[in-house]
Amino acid sequence: MFKHAQLESVKAWIGDPAHGALPLHVRVQRAIRQLILDGALEVGRPLPASRALAKSLGVSRDTVESAYSQLHAEGFIERRVGSGTFVSERVQRLPGRGKPRGMSVDGKATPRLSQRGRAMFNGGGVRDFLAPRPFAPGVPETRSFPLQTWERLERQVLKEYGTLALLHSPPQGMEPLRRAIADYVNLERGARATPDRVLVLTSSQQALTLCATVLLDAGDRIFIEDPVYHGARKAFDAAGLECVPVPLDEDGLRVDRLLEASDAPGEAPGAVFLTPSHQFPTGAKLALDRRLAIIEWARLRQGWIIEDDYDSEFHYASKPTACVQGLDPHERTIYIGTFTKSLFPGLRIGYMVLPPPLVAPMTVARTLLDGHSAPIPQLTLARFIDGGHFGAHVRTMRAVYAERRDVLARLVRQHLADFVEARVPAGGMQMPCLFIRDIPEREAVASAHRAGIDLLGLTGLYMSSNHKAGFLMGFAAHAPHELDAAVKRLAHVLGALCR
Ligand SMILES: Cc1ncc(COP(=O)(O)O)c(C=O)c1O
Repeated sequence: MFKHAQLESVKAWIGDPAHGALPLHVRVQRAIRQLILDGALEVGRPLPASRALAKSLGVSRDTVESAYSQLHAEGFIERRVGSGTFVSERVQRLPGRGKPRGMSVDGKATPRLSQRGRAMFNGGGVRDFLAPRPFAPGVPETRSFPLQTWERLERQVLKEYGTLALLHSPPQGMEPLRRAIADYVNLERGARATPDRVLVLTSSQQALTLCATVLLDAGDRIFIEDPVYHGARKAFDAAGLECVPVPLDEDGLRVDRLLEASDAPGEAPGAVFLTPSHQFPTGAKLALDRRLAIIEWARLRQGWIIEDDYDSEFHYASKPTACVQGLDPHERTIYIGTFTKSLFPGLRIGYMVLPPPLVAPMTVARTLLDGHSAPIPQLTLARFIDGGHFGAHVRTMRAVYAERRDVLARLVRQHLADFVEARVPAGGMQMPCLFIRDIPEREAVASAHRAGIDLLGLTGLYMSSNHKAGFLMGFAAHAPHELDAAVKRLAHVLGALCR
């Protein structure tokens, strides 16, 4: 027999609108199963006869019989002819019986995480700005994307490949896309790529995680720019690496400081993470002599250079400098690219150009993360690039973003000059602004957020404490009139903090 509270709990489960899509007998079965799993019905306990339970619940006897049959088939109950229905002995062995799984006794969700899991969770992840509110950094304009062209190419792919496009992709990526990427980075970025050295991934973020876990062990040192892209820092922290900050100047990473901080050649290989064509967040371009010195550093130590070339499509004054990977004859550089900024973030396609010996280990490792990237977007993107649409889109957006950068620089001068000084970047999608008054950065970011404005504070990007406070303002995703309105709103927010 059920106690009153148990009967009520079964009734509540059955009547819960969240379970409304389930047939009635399934709801009865799940409700009783939950009582057993929670330990409210102990082993050996008799269950009500089906006729009695049907009456108490106001359902037909067939409904209860179906529920009991399913519970019996799953091993939760035993049915003994002549004596009735009982909670099965087998239930004794269910893990975590007696309290809801993943819950503490007081009912609060307190899952026990590994140290690594806790570090990842406490780090907060990287997807800060999902809705493109002004001035979320790194978000492209998607409202003018040539969707009709994309749709036409996707239809072509489905027509040509038919149901073959529904199968798994090779984990390294579809060959047409690897070829298109290799041609693109060779032509536009001066890389040394071949299709068999390209690994198609879902993002740069995935590439960073793979580099951190496949090339280095927990406790190994990785040299990072200070300040650094937070997504890279978090991927390295999550892998248990020791991040060693190297300061920057206007020519990018201070190689003299890298050499000072490094072990002697032969002691520990190590790796260095760089955003050389447009340092995140300062915008500095790594000077050629420093690029060559870092390549030599990696050769002598058999270390790795991880080159994140995240927004080099958008340089406004001149062509960007060729990438480090193309200058490195010793194959110590891993080149990382993404279509998040050049096309759209929802595409989820990034890639690495790898030294040949790393292709197989990285490809096998990615099969453990997500198996492979989806074939239909890969094949559509390959056509988009081959058909010249990618080049045309980038050219169009480069002009749009250059104008928006100039508009934002002017607006900051007009409305925010009492608070910040803008560092107008030569490329990319965001503008660093440094406080010229004593304004608490964290409060400024939080107040702006409440006013519908997303800023990325600079302080969190530094490991050292010796730096100016301020924030990054993304300008790519909003039209001039939207930038105008948002800057005026931000002026109010900052003005209120100074009063
Ligand atoms: C330096 C840098 N690398 C990588 C990315 C992210 O690219 P993905 O979406 O491919 O992970 C960003 C995005 O803001 C970035 O700023």
